[in-house]
Amino acid sequence: MADAVKTLSPTPRARVQAMMEYHPPLGCRDALRLDFNENTVACSPKVREVLGSISAGALTRYPEREPVEAIVAAHLGVEAAQVALTNGVDEAIHVLFEAFLEEGDELLLPVPTYTMYEVYLSATDARAVPVLAADDLQFPFERLLAAITPRTKIIAIANPNSPSGSIATREQLLEIARSAPQAIVLVDEAYFHFCGETVMDLVGVVPNLVVARTFSKAYGLAGLRLGLLAGPVELMRWVRRVLSPYSVNSLALACLPPALEDTAYLDWYVGEVLAARSDFEAALDALGVRRWPSRANFILVDIGAQHAEFVRRMQAAGVLVRDRSKDPGCDGRVRITIGTQEQMRHAAVAFRETMAALRAAE
Ligand SMILES: Cc1ncc(COP(=O)(O)O)c(C=O)c1O
Repeated sequence: MADAVKTLSPTPRARVQAMMEYHPPLGCRDALRLDFNENTVACSPKVREVLGSISAGALTRYPEREPVEAIVAAHLGVEAAQVALTNGVDEAIHVLFEAFLEEGDELLLPVPTYTMYEVYLSATDARAVPVLAADDLQFPFERLLAAITPRTKIIAIANPNSPSGSIATREQLLEIARSAPQAIVLVDEAYFHFCGETVMDLVGVVPNLVVARTFSKAYGLAGLRLGLLAGPVELMRWVRRVLSPYSVNSLALACLPPALEDTAYLDWYVGEVLAARSDFEAALDALGVRRWPSRANFILVDIGAQHAEFVRRMQAAGVLVRDRSKDPGCDGRVRITIGTQEQMRHAAVAFRETMAALRAAE
C-alpha cells in the first residue's frame, strides 16, 4: 500500500522543483519589529472604525473590486481600467511575471533588491539577469542599460530599492523604458510615501511602464494584503486575465477608501519616520557605523563579520532587525526599519549597547 501511494505521488513541474524557497523569519515577533519595513504603530483609526462596522452578512458575499479600483484610480489620477488591485504587491509581481514571461525571456533586475522578484521568476520558464550594484549600492543605471538585450522582457526596479534605500531618477527610468521598448519596466513604488518621487503620472503615457504600490508600508495594512498595479490598458488586460477575481478580500476593499482619505494620519506617520530616520542616521554616524543613504523607511548598515550575532543580541534586547548578508554584495550588512522617533531612540540605545558588547568581545 505504501508503495502504491509512493508511485502515485504527483510530481510538480521541473521549474517548481528547482524553485528557490522563501522563508521569512516570522514567529517570535513579540518585540520592536524593525525587520520587515512595516508601519511600526498601526493603521489609521478611520480604517479601524470601518473594520469594526463590517457586518457578518457582508462576509457572505464575494468581494467586488471594481468600485474600489475606481476610487483608487481617481486618487492616483489614472483611469480605472489602468489599475488592478492585488493581494499585496507580491501578487502583482506574480501575475505580471505569469502573464508575460516565457521560455527564452529575461528578467533584468538590479541587485541587491526585493527577494520576491527572483522567487516568482523561478516559477516561470524565463531567466533572471541580475545586474550587481557597485559597493555604494547606488542604482546601477549604466550597467542596467548595457544589460538590455532583445530578450529582455521585464525590468523590475524597486524605487526606492530594498535593502539599499537607493533611488533611480525619473530620467533614468525614462531612459530605460526608451531603451527597452520590447520590455515592461516595472517600477515598484512600495516605499513611495517616504521619498515622494513617483512615475505614476507617466502611466499610460510611457507605453511599457507599469507601477506597483502597496498598502503594507506607510498605510500600516500589511496584514490585509493590499497592493496595486497601474499600467497601460492594453497591458492591464493581460494582467487581469491571470489575476484571480477575488484575491483581494472584502475587508481589505472596505478599508481602502478610509485609508486613502485619512491623509492626516499618513502625513503624521511619514513625518515621524523621516524625523526618526535622520536622528538614527546621526546616532549611527556617531558610532562610526557605515550606512547607506536611504530614501525609504529603513537603513542598511555594515556590521561586518559579527552580523548574525548582532541580530541575535538585538533580538535579546527586544529589537528585531533583518540580516541581509546573503543578498548579493551585502555580506555583513543588516537592514533596520525606521519606526517612530520614540521607538528609534530605544533602538539606538539597543544598537549602541549591542555594538559595545560585540566590540568588547572581539
Ligand atoms: C520593494 C518591495 N515591493 C513589494 C513588497 C511587498 O509588498 P506587499 O506587502 O504589498 O506584498 C515589499 C515588501 O517588503 C518590498 O520591499
